Amino acid sequence: MAGLDPVHRDFFAGGAGDERTVHANETAFDRLRLLPRVLRATGVPDPRLTLFGTVLPGPVLIAPTAFHRLAHPDGETATAHAARDTGTVMTVSMAATTPIEKIAGTGARLWFQLYPQPDRDFTAHLAGRAAAAGVTALVVTVDSPVFGRRERDLRNGFLDLPSGLACENLRDPVTGRVRDIVLDPSLGWDDVLRLRAVTRLPILVKGVLHPADAAEAVARGLDGVIVSNHGGRQLDGAVASIDALPAVAEAVRGRVPVLLDGGVRRGTDVVTALARGATAVLIGRPVIWGLAAGGRDGVATVLRRLHEDVVRVMALCGAATLAELTPDLLREVRP
Ligand SMILES: Cc1cc2nc3c(=O)[nH]c(=O)nc-3n(C[C@H](O)[C@H](O)[C@H](O)COP(=O)(O)O)c2cc1C
Repeated sequence: MAGLDPVHRDFFAGGAGDERTVHANETAFDRLRLLPRVLRATGVPDPRLTLFGTVLPGPVLIAPTAFHRLAHPDGETATAHAARDTGTVMTVSMAATTPIEKIAGTGARLWFQLYPQPDRDFTAHLAGRAAAAGVTALVVTVDSPVFGRRERDLRNGFLDLPSGLACENLRDPVTGRVRDIVLDPSLGWDDVLRLRAVTRLPILVKGVLHPADAAEAVARGLDGVIVSNHGGRQLDGAVASIDALPAVAEAVRGRVPVLLDGGVRRGTDVVTALARGATAVLIGRPVIWGLAAGGRDGVATVLRRLHEDVVRVMALCGAATLAELTPDLLREVRP
């Protein structure tokens, strides 16, 4: 990516350990082939879906990713403008380099991602601040009791943001100083549920791979599950998201939306994920590459091309709506 510092490029592209899971997220799709239907008189397919009462133009949302101002000077604001331009949802990372209020000023549909902090009052403050800015859902990332070992960053000595950039949403409301993100291995379900007391927004848990955890999330009244291994940045060797999906979808049994991220790059990947039981998908790195290449327009181009590809693949599969993307359209082949 021209213009992107190689150290920052490594931060965005890389993952934990040997990056087996980074790689597996994409290659796992290779084993899943489409078995299209023909002569279904679909007309132009309709890829819209309704999520938490909002009609979205298509099933591709923006995953939370940190530090957009490392990729482009306009950072999260550019990404949000692109979300607004295309009508999709942007999930703003807790590690965003732009204040949530400024991002919300673009008029984009926003969700806000957070890691519950050991300081419960600060977690409540964060959730309240995001809600006041107008976000419409909270995404609680649960796959990070500790930091994954990202060896590219260790080799490059990439430990901190360059001066002038900061995690603007981590400013302490009293001192104004930016706090560090604290990952807490003693967190449990009750820490997620505590957010219920401070917000009426839907709460999704992100980073679920095991079907028992998905069932637990539903049993505890959470509003959505995101099947994710954090783009392979946490547990190297974790199962590819698309491989974890069927058992999670089966455990959830349609009671709440099941989203998926990890390795989604083409319309075929989106259609495959929905046919395997996902309600929608999110993309992480493709948004970063669009941002680095062309700011707002770059991100909008990524989102538009993927959207067009989804519609094309739906037509080629004989599916008029997302509801027609069902498991019978898939065959698993040997690698
Ligand atoms: C550079 C980068 C930063 C990320 N930052 C966060 C984050 O702050 N919070 C979070 O929940 N997930 C974070 N993720 C994980 C993404 O939300 C998502 O799970 C992952 O990128 C999806 O995989 P993909 O990049 O293959 O599309 C990050 C991923 C990348 C690549």
